[in-house]
Amino acid sequence: MPLCLVAQKPTLAIQVDKPTAKVSPTLYGLMTEEINFSYDGGLYGELIRDRVPGRGWGSLTSWPAVMRGANSSVAIDLDGKSGPSSAITHSLKVTVKAADASSPAGVENGGYWGIPVRANTTYTGSFWAKTDKAGLTVSVALENDQTAEVAASTSVASIGDQWKEYKFTLKTGAVPTSSNNHLTLTVTQPATLWLDLVSLFGPTYKNRVNGNRIDLMEKMAAMRPTFLRLPGGNYLEGNHINERFNFKETLGPWVNRPTHPSPWNYRSSDGMGLLEFLEWCEDLNMEPVLAVYAGYSLEQEHIEPGPALEPHVQDALDEIEYLTGGPETRWGAERVKNGHPAPFALHYVEIGNEDEFDHSKSYDGRFAQFYKAIKAKYPQLQLIATTPVNSIRPDIIDDHYYKSTEAMYELVGRYDKADRNGPKIFVGEWATREGDPTPNLAAALADSAWMTSMERNSDHVIMAAYAPLLTNVNTKGMQWATDLIGYNALSSYGSPSYYAQAMFYSHIGTEVVPTTLAGTPSRVYTVATRDEKARKLTIKLVNATGVAQPLAISLSGVDKVAPEAKLITLSGKSPNATNSIDHPTEIVPVESTVKIAGPKFNQTLVPYSVSILELNY
Ligand code: AHR
Repeated sequence: MPLCLVAQKPTLAIQVDKPTAKVSPTLYGLMTEEINFSYDGGLYGELIRDRVPGRGWGSLTSWPAVMRGANSSVAIDLDGKSGPSSAITHSLKVTVKAADASSPAGVENGGYWGIPVRANTTYTGSFWAKTDKAGLTVSVALENDQTAEVAASTSVASIGDQWKEYKFTLKTGAVPTSSNNHLTLTVTQPATLWLDLVSLFGPTYKNRVNGNRIDLMEKMAAMRPTFLRLPGGNYLEGNHINERFNFKETLGPWVNRPTHPSPWNYRSSDGMGLLEFLEWCEDLNMEPVLAVYAGYSLEQEHIEPGPALEPHVQDALDEIEYLTGGPETRWGAERVKNGHPAPFALHYVEIGNEDEFDHSKSYDGRFAQFYKAIKAKYPQLQLIATTPVNSIRPDIIDDHYYKSTEAMYELVGRYDKADRNGPKIFVGEWATREGDPTPNLAAALADSAWMTSMERNSDHVIMAAYAPLLTNVNTKGMQWATDLIGYNALSSYGSPSYYAQAMFYSHIGTEVVPTTLAGTPSRVYTVATRDEKARKLTIKLVNATGVAQPLAISLSGVDKVAPEAKLITLSGKSPNATNSIDHPTEIVPVESTVKIAGPKFNQTLVPYSVSILELNY
């Protein structure tokens, strides 16, 4: 008798009535830091680059001279001896030697690779100034780089001889949308004008003053993240101790914020200060996961545990008090003064960032010192260590994974057999790094495979966040390739990974139920969760192969299922397919309704796809 080999029909068995774990309600969130012009030149709504000019970081290149007409002459310099406050002690010195009504002279700023101009839009602006010609009038205009056409203009009269803040508004009419614009500040008589904190904002998300760019906030809102890990990453630590994120220097009026260098090779305006991070959380209904500086900076500078570290431990306690304290506390009162009377909910505090890179091996001692002080005052807080420690048991450990596509597939299963008695896991940074500036479909497929495994283990992996989140796609805008969301001055787009994550984040049950795949090739992945209250089953399916995968799906432990289900699919013709600033919607999720025959039904997964099937039982 000839032996007839029949390939096993690919099957997926789901045991709906036998949940294996609770899904962490905070599983999916965001991680952020000042990298890739994420805030300045990105999310933060400020349109003026280097609004605090300063020597030593090349920012005078953001402030070229304006000389119009036949009779204008101006010199631009940095005055290191005069600034509007004790925090900002230098300023832009605009020495106008010649100017008249037909030959204005002054200075301009081209924003972050352009200033976006849209029709019928109000821009709110301000600057600090003083002059040697009291009563001077400064003209302000939004001008097109190519055509020199003015989209909006105004003037600010009576500049005095002492530092003072001046405000202005620019309103556009029926102008074409463009990003190649600059802001000019000019005068029509010889005078010396000192300028600082020159600022211009377009409309912001929820109309917040000092707020965020609308399109980027909307993209994040669509992901429905549950937390924001802030303020870094390397940005928390700084290259040097005095370049760390010092929250106290990011509060209150801008004129009190000295600005500071970020480790990603540009200077942060600190317009996105601690309170702005928290308001970002508030706007998107996320909980802050607060990372506190723990005495280690990237250039191998560290502070020994013991008395020398105490001021930093106190800073961490102050920072927690700023978030959570009542008006009767020193730092709670500061938050009230800054305009936010209500405290913020806080459950997680991370101590440092990637402290395994500290060659001095001081983290064990540093972590223990922070842990004891924070727990003594805030026993309810869950404290996160950035690497395993021996001296004390952290509540949670932050694991980071930056992987190639192949390595990411190998990582799937990493937590399947992890010791459930040890600390919980926060995957505080992860990404499949394929695609530049943003991940392609191959990366999105590997990311999705990885998410199935985190979700399956979400009793243990209680939080996870992709990194980096944002990148300005202009040349020199990016310091780290493979970022979730890309943008220029005018528009933004989500990468295939962005859409995969938005799908995963916003479709999830409350309990994991067991799934068994059989007869499928190795690059097919799944996870299923149920919401018993809503009687809803969410099945996530990843087909990272180039061929269609038929699947016979059987649900056990349910009597009946609704005859129709929601199917959301993200797919493309090639793993190299991607989205970009010019082609933002090549790979986007498509939603449809599919018929479900009963607890046993067939579903085919299209090649290179991520699918979510949501059905009621
Ligand atoms: O996400 C980019 C960087 O990667 C982060 O700043 C750091 O924590 C990690 O090394």
